Formats: sequence, C-alpha cells, structure tokens
Amino acid sequence: MSDLITLHPEAQAQLFTDARTANTFTDEPVSDAQLRAIFELAKYPPTAANTQPLRVLFVRQGEPRERLLTHMADGNRAKTATAPVVAVLAADTDFHEFVPRVFPIRPQMRDSLAEDPAGREQMARFNATLQIGYWLFAVRAAGLAAGPMAGFDAAGVDKEFFADSAWKSLLVVNIGKPGPDAWFPRLPRLDYDDVVRHA
Ligand SMILES: Cc1cc2nc3c(=O)[nH]c(=O)nc-3n(C[C@H](O)[C@H](O)[C@H](O)COP(=O)(O)O)c2cc1C
Repeated sequence: MSDLITLHPEAQAQLFTDARTANTFTDEPVSDAQLRAIFELAKYPPTAANTQPLRVLFVRQGEPRERLLTHMADGNRAKTATAPVVAVLAADTDFHEFVPRVFPIRPQMRDSLAEDPAGREQMARFNATLQIGYWLFAVRAAGLAAGPMAGFDAAGVDKEFFADSAWKSLLVVNIGKPGPDAWFPRLPRLDYDDVVRHA
C-alpha cells in the first residue's frame, strides 16, 4: 500500500483492496440500525447543487421479496432470494421539490427544473448513480458486503414498487455477511497507464 494514502491501511483494505462483490450470504441479520448508519455516512458526499436524488427501497424476506425476484435476471435470482436484505436503488426524477431545502441559496432552481422533465431525469440519473458509488462504500464501511446487480427488469420493478412516485430504479443490491464461496475470481483491473492521460 502506498504511504501517500493517508487513510488508515486497515480502512483502505476494508473499503478498497480486500472488499469484494458478494454472491452468497449467511443468514446473519442486518438490522434497521445498520441500514440507517449506512445512510448517515452515504448522505455526505457531493451531488450537483446538493440535489441528492438517490432513493432507497429496502426489501426484506417475505412477499415483497418474492415479487422482486420475478423481475431479476435468471442468474441473479438465487442470491437475491437469500440475502438478508436487498436494496433497490432509484433516482427520484421529482427531486426538484426538495431544492428550496437542500439548495437554499438558489431556491428558484426548483421552478426551472419543473419546466424541464428531460433535463431533470438526466440529472437525477447521473447524480443518483454517483450516490450509488458512495452508498456501496458506506455498506463496506459498516462491515457488510454488497452485491450490486444491473441484471433486472427496471420497468417491471418501477411498475411493481414505484407506480405511485417518480422513482426510477437503477440498481438492485444484495447486502449481508458473505456466505460460503461468496466470491467469483478477482478480475484484472486496468493499469494507471491504460486509464490516465496528462494534458
Ligand atoms: C453497476 C453494476 C452492475 C452489476 N450487475 C451485476 C449483475 O447483474 N449480476 C452479477 O452477478 N454481478 C453484477 N455486478 C457485479 C460485478 O460484476 C462485480 O462487482 C465486478 O466484477 C467486481 O467484482 P469484485 O468486487 O469481486 O472484484 C455488477 C456490478 C455493478 C457495479
């Protein structure tokens, strides 16, 4: 590990270098208090004009989980069935209603966004996707593993769970303690020189 990174090495390992995407889970419960603690960390990193369009639906075991499973891709169904808690992460395309509260230096932004549904949806999706990254790291910071999945029918999930709102699902995430054989082999990461240019 580089001594140029000031975050404690154990925290670097927990958040980055040792953290993995889990594909199986133990039945150790995840408490409501843990879910709230994750939110209380994840709410701080930045979004455009502090708009915070990410919304979260937690789905525990039971009938709502059965309904969610019908919208998951075949390869994602078994792990989504067994995770102690599943989060459906969504973008609220009506996030502009909160602008006077979260961006009081320019409350009139609510009205300009109200007149631009297409721009608003793009802004909601982009910023909520950023927040998903923050949120996955907050899950790791709570000592839990996350299993993000884009393999699901988003239109079906929106109809099933969000018909009465402007929430649009972006990602489904299994959360819990990793179970047996939880990991696929670690896949190669791109190198600095593949990714970075200096102008
Ligand atoms: C946006 C997103 C969508 C993903 N969709 C799926 C999915 O549908 N099914 C699945 O098994 N894994 C899915 N993954 C998991 C990735 O394949 C995994 O995080 C990546 O290979 C890195 O694995 P590692 O964290 O164990 O190194 C997804 C991850 C992300 C971030």
